[in-house]
Amino acid sequence: MRIIRTVDYQDMSRKAANVISAQVILKPTSVLGLATGTTPIGTYKQLAAWCAKGDVDFSQVSTYNLDEYRGLSHEDVQSYHYFMRTNFFDHININLANTHVPDGSNPDAEAACRDYDRIVAEAGYPDLQLLGIGRNGHIGFNEPGPYFSKGTHMVNLTESTIKANSRLFDSEDQVPRQAYTMGVQTIMYARSILVVANGEEKADAVYRMCYGPVDPQCPASILQLHTNCTVIADEAALSKCPRD
Ligand code: PGA
Repeated sequence: MRIIRTVDYQDMSRKAANVISAQVILKPTSVLGLATGTTPIGTYKQLAAWCAKGDVDFSQVSTYNLDEYRGLSHEDVQSYHYFMRTNFFDHININLANTHVPDGSNPDAEAACRDYDRIVAEAGYPDLQLLGIGRNGHIGFNEPGPYFSKGTHMVNLTESTIKANSRLFDSEDQVPRQAYTMGVQTIMYARSILVVANGEEKADAVYRMCYGPVDPQCPASILQLHTNCTVIADEAALSKCPRD
């Protein structure tokens, strides 16, 4: 695990965008695994700015997002489909047909998850998977539990995740209680992984991810076993980690 310490959120975002941009420049047909949440927004903004200048070209890239709330239509402003369009896809030269997010509008959880696993496998799994980390150490919506998950599956969100995500809704009641998420095993199939984290509220989770035991009670801790994982985090998120 490579840890890159940045001075602040902007520095984190620019460095993460540099890594993604290098991936796309080296392999224009890259398969990218993407994440939602507030952390990667600055990274997406930076990539969009470079794309507008002609410095990075997404025309041959395909993307697979980690997760989606169950029960929301693709047009719902709270859906991750909507998030990805408004925060990234609408601002770069990607072919929307090459972007993929689990189908939260399909009430048949088994079919939705099976279909998603199939298309991610057919794409050969991501060359680079971008991840945020939850305060409880979750990656995607893989919450702490007794074992690491495998493929895409339906999850019941934990109270702490519902509370954390409620800041983006009018009230906590409106946060969907279930989601479809890529499993931990699928995430680990990516050839490289880039985790972004900022802010003091992530410091515990970042410490456990990088230095704690590999334990499904902190799903991100499994990333210690990945052969090409980079963490880019600001001083506050790394405040509990040793400086060396
Ligand atoms: P955040 O979410 O970027 O909004 O903090 C990260 C996550 O829960 O994975």
